[in-house]
Amino acid sequence: MLNGELIRRGVPDVLMLDHGKKVVCREDWAKRRQEIIQLLCSEEYGFPPSQPIDWSYELLSEEKNFCAGNVTLTKILLKLKLKNNEFSFPFYSAIPNDMDKKVPAFVHICFRDSIPDKYMPTEEICDNGFAVFSFCYHDIVPDRKDGLSEGLGAVMYPEGKRNPDDCGTIMLWAWAASRVMDYVQTLESIDLSNIAVVGHSRLGKTALLAGGLDERFAYIISNDSGCSGAAITREKTGEHIVHITKSFPHWFCQNYVRYVGNEDHLPFDQHFLLALSAPRKVYVASATLDTWADPDSEYLSCVAASPVYELLGFKGFIHGDQYPKGWDTYHEGNIAYHLRTGTHYFGRYDWNRYMEYIKKQM
Ligand code: GCU
Repeated sequence: MLNGELIRRGVPDVLMLDHGKKVVCREDWAKRRQEIIQLLCSEEYGFPPSQPIDWSYELLSEEKNFCAGNVTLTKILLKLKLKNNEFSFPFYSAIPNDMDKKVPAFVHICFRDSIPDKYMPTEEICDNGFAVFSFCYHDIVPDRKDGLSEGLGAVMYPEGKRNPDDCGTIMLWAWAASRVMDYVQTLESIDLSNIAVVGHSRLGKTALLAGGLDERFAYIISNDSGCSGAAITREKTGEHIVHITKSFPHWFCQNYVRYVGNEDHLPFDQHFLLALSAPRKVYVASATLDTWADPDSEYLSCVAASPVYELLGFKGFIHGDQYPKGWDTYHEGNIAYHLRTGTHYFGRYDWNRYMEYIKKQM
């Protein structure tokens, strides 16, 4: 039923190479993955900054007895040396104390500079044996229409002008998640093969992009990311490219506006973004009342990305024939999904499902 729905909506096949040949083996997929990166960068998010030439960090504060003495909380300033400039931003590290083995971790792209945060129950996360590294997205580039004139935006576009495929803020936030990952890679206490990138809503879109591009992330988690995130664009409910590019033009490259009212001509759909992470674990979550994001279209995207996993010899999305109704959880394959009851939110229920899934997969 849902495969028929993909055809009816005219969703493009992620396994069809640009010149019309079907991907049939791993080597083809490696080529196709590069094509998809080019496509999503040139048409939607813009091209990322290059890697820093060098980086260092400075400890801003340390609290060894956080959460009843069970967690060490530090605030760190990451200092990046870029081609023509420098850029620094702070992030938090919360690592459980006295663990007898390396711990899995989250890189959380956060709305606010606070610990804990209503979208990040630091204590419960650490009690579950996870570390969490988090940064506030405003510290990279402010989330305003004119935000690109500040922070990393000012470094990238000193003249205040962007070319049509120059990146917007989502790509810059995603790039910053990879810079935190550079730091995490140096830590003895972290299980480097079990690191997740996670974000909610606009930052769920960001997490999908960060993990899609950076293969060091083993789990890529999108909480209620909706339009231009996990949800299939064609015939979704709620938000469309026309709305998102009007309210948040700075999130994307300028080329994206060309698809306003013209979504049928998108040379991709959002399952291409999910597929970039294959065969790593992608987790999409929705909320029943979040019709602006559209749970059904988020679910459908998991269905549409699944053939890439199968081609690579992994279980993709193990799902039912119908859209889920509420409280449904799909944890069997490398694509996972849950539908929480309620509104657009990033709650403990969501975190608990993510941790449950990662523990099961580790
Ligand atoms: C707006 C926007 C969404 C976005 C959401 C959020 O509602 O239209 O695309 O996901 O904000 O980030 O909370």
